[in-house]
Amino acid sequence: MLVRCLYASRILKTQSPATLRAILQSSRKNNTKNGITGVLVATDDSFIQVLEGGRAQVCQTYNQIAQDKRHSSVTILSFEEIAQRSFEGWSMGEVTTHQLNPTVLLKHSATLHIDPLMMTGAAVLALLHEIVSSGTVVCGNSTRGKRG
Ligand SMILES: Cc1cc2nc3c(=O)[nH]c(=O)nc-3n(C[C@H](O)[C@H](O)[C@H](O)COP(=O)(O)O)c2cc1C
Repeated sequence: MLVRCLYASRILKTQSPATLRAILQSSRKNNTKNGITGVLVATDDSFIQVLEGGRAQVCQTYNQIAQDKRHSSVTILSFEEIAQRSFEGWSMGEVTTHQLNPTVLLKHSATLHIDPLMMTGAAVLALLHEIVSSGTVVCGNSTRGKRG
């Protein structure tokens, strides 16, 4: 059985690019082992992450992430059973909102500063689909070859 977990959180003000690199490195290693795929989006002050995979694996990973001191206000935006994955191309794809064409953001947000903690889960998921379509997601250890 497959599930999708979408959450958002606040990036700590003291965070450095090295922290994001470290997060992605361990995410890709663990997620490849656990059959989890997804995308991590970093805005100026927030993370948005979607995790897809088996229910036990996704829940275990989410519980670990929620306790991680490198972010705060970790908030589930949606959790659902899915027939198939939508973010299957990445053990953990990455994108920062700076890399995005502003029109992608404006399609789903009132301003260019998106605040996922103030948006509905459906709107954030739609934004993620749009980001994937825009081809801006960077691959780590892709689960099935390079994409985006
Ligand atoms: C925003 C954010 C996203 C994360 N995403 C993942 C993830 O997708 N998979 C994962 O295993 N760990 C993720 N982590 C890291 C976990 O919280 C935890 O540090 C890691 O799983 C510990 O594994 P390690 O001992 O192998 O480094 C994330 C952390 C943060 C702050």
